[in-house]
Amino acid sequence: MAPVGSSSGSPVRVLITGAAGQIAYSLIPLVAKGEVFGQQQEVILHLLDIQPMLGVLNGVVMEISDCAFPLLRDVVATADVEAAFKDIDYAFLVGAMPRREGMERKDLLRANVGIFKVQGGALDKLAKKDVKVLVVGNPANTNALICSKYAPSIPKENITAMTRLDQNRALAQIADHVKSQVQNVRKLIIWGNHSNTQFPDARFVEVQKDNSWSSITKIQHDEKFLKEQLIPIVQKRGAEVIAARKLSSAMSAAQAAADHMRDWFHGTKKDDWISMAVVSKGEYGVPQGLVFSFPVTVENRQWKIVPDLPIDDFAREKIQITTKELEEERQEAQAATESQ
Ligand SMILES: NC(=O)c1ccc[n+]([C@@H]2O[C@H](COP(=O)([O-])OP(=O)(O)OC[C@H]3O[C@@H](n4cnc5c(N)ncnc54)[C@H](O)[C@@H]3O)[C@@H](O)[C@H]2O)c1
Repeated sequence: MAPVGSSSGSPVRVLITGAAGQIAYSLIPLVAKGEVFGQQQEVILHLLDIQPMLGVLNGVVMEISDCAFPLLRDVVATADVEAAFKDIDYAFLVGAMPRREGMERKDLLRANVGIFKVQGGALDKLAKKDVKVLVVGNPANTNALICSKYAPSIPKENITAMTRLDQNRALAQIADHVKSQVQNVRKLIIWGNHSNTQFPDARFVEVQKDNSWSSITKIQHDEKFLKEQLIPIVQKRGAEVIAARKLSSAMSAAQAAADHMRDWFHGTKKDDWISMAVVSKGEYGVPQGLVFSFPVTVENRQWKIVPDLPIDDFAREKIQITTKELEEERQEAQAATESQ
């Protein structure tokens, strides 16, 4: 495709897989408009989808051209994994095998192991060695783990999975509950898996009122909401959107993916943290090697898990449930890699 933007500076190469799908349709403009890498950073989009979707992808490329994004230097649209992963600086791995009716979790994992094994190998062979990767396609945490396993030359810290949508959902629910706005709510944590075992933990949430931040328990001591209502609302929100829209969350997933990568690129706000699923080194008792959602801060494009947060019995039990699920997924994925 002919360049549509100015050609000064050094552009970053950004891969989006599942590029003909619905999340990518909302994510592409966010990346191309500078909402992720900033208003000064030119980008070259690498768009990957599977061969049967190339016609649709061609339509997306036409629309990208018609948007005339000033920061967009070029577009590589392809079904060829090698062309897609060549020299990339950032990757949003959105494309995955969807769960079909009657499909067991085992079968879903097996299908996705096949995809993320190939893409991990491509990262290892073709991407820049400091590439930063966000896995969105489900089961996101375990897909990231597989991807990392097949990309031994890429630091494990550089391959992450998305729980930012869960964080955003929880912040919006809390803001609504305390009759405020999301920018006045901070320090929410999503622990664990991007699945319905995740633990949205509001114990440290702070709310801003009259220019000062205080613990949510001081603003509104509503344990019932935080422990009994918020957690299932966030855990089941995806299903609620599907029931209403007859399609899964896409605009909000794209926004969350952009938020995750923007904060990784630019850093987190002072006195706040975000949730990212990252490789565990045993923090908070989570087994090493699992890709687990933790509270993190980011500086100089390096994330760091927030240390020493107190874990009470309630939180411990919730963290154990989601850990157990991720360990089972790891075992199933391991078995699937051996049988492929
Ligand atoms: N982590 C999260 O918070 C979160 C939130 C929402 C959705 N998701 C997941 O994101 C994924 C994408 O969702 P969507 O709504 O865009 O789905 P979609 O079905 O609209 O699009 C997926 C696209 O991926 C493509 N694809 C499949 N296999 C591929 C491969 N090997 N290489 C490249 N492309 C491939 C498909 O052809 C399709 O165009 C799903 O797995 C969904 O479950 C994750």
